[in-house]
Amino acid sequence: WCNQVGLALSNKVYVSKEGTVAEYGMLAKDNIEEGEVLFTIPRSALLHQGTTKVSTLLEKGDKSSLESSSGWVPLLLALLYEHTSSQSYWKPYLSLWTDFKKLDHPMFWSKEERDRLLRGTGIPEAVDTDLANIYREYTDVVLPFMTRHPDLWNPDTHTLELYTQLVAFVMAYSFQEPQVEDVDDEEDEEEEKPPNPPMMVPMADMLNHESNHNANLEFTPDSLKMVCIRPIRKGEEVFNTYGQMANWQLLHMYGFTEPHPQNINETADIPIATLYEVATRGIQSDLDQQLVEEKWEMLSQMTQEKGAFVFGKQGCLTDTELHTFLKVLCMSEDEFSELKENEGWEEDDEEEEISQTFSNEGLPGLKASWKRLIHEAARHTVRSYRVGGEGEGECADSDRALIEDKAALAGLSSRQHNALQVRHGQKNILYRLMELTKS
Ligand SMILES: *[C@@H]1O[C@H](CO)[C@@H](O)[C@H](O)[C@H]1NC(C)=O
Repeated sequence: WCNQVGLALSNKVYVSKEGTVAEYGMLAKDNIEEGEVLFTIPRSALLHQGTTKVSTLLEKGDKSSLESSSGWVPLLLALLYEHTSSQSYWKPYLSLWTDFKKLDHPMFWSKEERDRLLRGTGIPEAVDTDLANIYREYTDVVLPFMTRHPDLWNPDTHTLELYTQLVAFVMAYSFQEPQVEDVDDEEDEEEEKPPNPPMMVPMADMLNHESNHNANLEFTPDSLKMVCIRPIRKGEEVFNTYGQMANWQLLHMYGFTEPHPQNINETADIPIATLYEVATRGIQSDLDQQLVEEKWEMLSQMTQEKGAFVFGKQGCLTDTELHTFLKVLCMSEDEFSELKENEGWEEDDEEEEISQTFSNEGLPGLKASWKRLIHEAARHTVRSYRVGGEGEGECADSDRALIEDKAALAGLSSRQHNALQVRHGQKNILYRLMELTKS
C-alpha cells in the first residue's frame, strides 16, 4: 500500500511491535544522523475530508451544517464511512485498527474508576466535558446529516459508540498542521486563525511519543517528512513528539503516560479557587473580608486566567498571572485604594524578571507573605488527591511508596499504573513547591 500511494520509507527504519515502548513503533536498523529523512508521505496519501470518497459531500453544499466547536465532524464522518466500507481505498491503512478496543483512554473507563484513580488530576473533569460534547455533536450535527444521506451512512452501523471510538482514534492518532503565520500581514497579528482541521497521516502515526524526542514531522507544500533531529543508534526506537505535554494530557488524549521522572514537560495545576480559599482563610473582620473580595473582583477582571496556575519542573509557567494575583492579594488597603484610583498599574517588572522570580531558583527568595500563599495553596491542592485513610504529608503518601516498589508496580493494571504516574508526577511538583516556599 505504501508503494501504491507513493509513501517512501528509508531502508534504515522499520515498523514493529517488538522492542518498542508500546504497540507499534518505529526502530532504527542502522545508525541515523541528524537531518536524515526517515519517510516522506505525499499529501495525496493523507486521509482527511478532502481525500475521502465522500469529500464532495463534506466540502460542498451542506458544509455549514457540519460546523461544530471541535471542528472534527467532517473527518469523523469520513472515518465513519471509510472504516465501514468494504470497498474503501483506505482499507489497508485502516485495517491496522480492526476495532478500536485497544484504545483505553480514560473516557472508556467507568466514571467510578476515573473518580477513584484520577481524583485531583484534572482528568475526570476534562473527560466529562468531552463526553458531553461528543454526545451533543453526534445528536445535533452528525445524526441529522447521516439521516439526510441514507445511501452512505446508517445510524444502526454508525452508532454513538463507534463515533466515540473514532473520536478517541482521532485524539490519539491524528495530526494538525501548524498554522503558518502571515509575515506580511502584521495588522492581523492579533487575530488568531482557527486551527487547521485534524487529518490522518499514515506511517507518521506509527511512531510513539517521548517528550525528549529524536524525530520531528515537517510539513512542506507537496509532502510531509519525518526528519531525524538528533542521532539515533541502530536498534533504538524512533520517537516523534505529540507536543509538549504533561502526563495528564498524554493520558487524557492518548491513553498513556511517560514513566516518572522521564517527562520533562510534567506539570501540576493549582486551581485559582484554591488560592482564594487560602487567602480568605482565617480572616477575622468583615472589613478584611470585604477587602479581599474587592481585590478578587478586580483580579477576575484584570486577568484572562483560565482556572489554574500551572507549575512545571523548573517553576511556574503562568508566572505573570501568579505575580499579579500575589501582588494584589498582599497589598495594604492604601496600596489597593491607589491601584483602584489609577485603574491599574504601570507594569514595571520585566517579563523575564518575573519568570526568574517564579522559577525554582527564585521562589525561595520571595516575600514571606507571597511564599505563604503559594505554600498553603500547594498544600491544599495535594490534599485533593488524598484517598480515604491516607494521612497528611509526603511520608504518608502511599503513591510515593508504591512508585518505588518494583514488585507492587508489576502487579498494577495498566489503568492503575497510568493513573499512578499522573498523580505521582503532579504531587512531586507540588511537594517541591512546598519545599521551596517553606517559611
Ligand atoms: C517542555 O520542556 C522543554 C525543555 O525543558 C522546555 O523548553 C519547554 O518550555 C517545556 N514546555 C512546556 C509547555 O512546559
